[in-house]
Amino acid sequence: MKNFLKIEDFSKQEIDLIFKIINQVKLNYPFNPSKNEGLTAINFFAEPSTRTRFSFERAFYYLNIPVMTSADAFLSSSLKKGESLKDTFRTLSQYSDLIVFRHPDENWIDYAKYSRVPVINAGNGSGEHPTQALLDLYTIKAELGNFDNKKVLICGDLHYGRTVHSLIKLLEQNNCKIFTCPSSCQIDSVESFLSLPNSKYPQISIEDVPDFLSEVDVLYMTRTQTERFNGHYDFEIFKLNNKTINKLKEKSVILHPLPRNEEIAEEVDDDPRAAYHERQVKNGLYTRIALIKYLLEKR
Ligand code: NCD
Repeated sequence: MKNFLKIEDFSKQEIDLIFKIINQVKLNYPFNPSKNEGLTAINFFAEPSTRTRFSFERAFYYLNIPVMTSADAFLSSSLKKGESLKDTFRTLSQYSDLIVFRHPDENWIDYAKYSRVPVINAGNGSGEHPTQALLDLYTIKAELGNFDNKKVLICGDLHYGRTVHSLIKLLEQNNCKIFTCPSSCQIDSVESFLSLPNSKYPQISIEDVPDFLSEVDVLYMTRTQTERFNGHYDFEIFKLNNKTINKLKEKSVILHPLPRNEEIAEEVDDDPRAAYHERQVKNGLYTRIALIKYLLEKR
């Protein structure tokens, strides 16, 4: 049995295999040949979500796997009565064949071992978001053809942004060149979060980003995770608009895990390089279908 709790749970070979499954799914969608009789799944979300939860639900429907969802688990499940994560996993795994789980405690992934069925991490606090990183990487490949030596600039909340923490590991594995533009209060934050030596990833200052965009293949924007700041968060971030985008390479892609706040102006949405609203989101669905198929086969 295999879980997907962090990037290290899959080898590069496994990720290549999952990418092949994604391609097959994409080719046949919405036609689905698999029956999956008798299987059920649980979507357990103790933090807000739009894309992750609905894409997983859609993926289960596509695979003919009935899914039970708790979208507000802190209010509606026994978490509210103080039930432990250990007991929650023990219980959920008696009713389902696969569990998708999101919770603000970074350490919840340590309790997934109490589940008798595979568990997918849909977000553990500011820790990781491995399925988002998988779909981001797939989107880079689909948009640019390959990853080798691609320059990826990651902007925004690099400390609390869990999608970045997972994505950086995958980009490293695929020989991408990573550059960062953290918000002004978070210098060296990815490095410190991932316990890496300082300045492993060159930093571009907010003022220098518009010129640096002439070298960038992938521009990965993220929002400020305001819900994870205790109180004050008054600082500068790089903002993309029709002016600051000026020098971005013609053959490049703009990604954002969404939701978006003020870091990308709406006027950028119509730019052909902006993949975040349609191609990236749709790849999220194909990726999650492929991942579910893979984990169910590995049981
Ligand atoms: C992200 C998340 O929840 O970490 N959203 C998502 O799942 N696509 C990004 C975010 O909330 O900023």
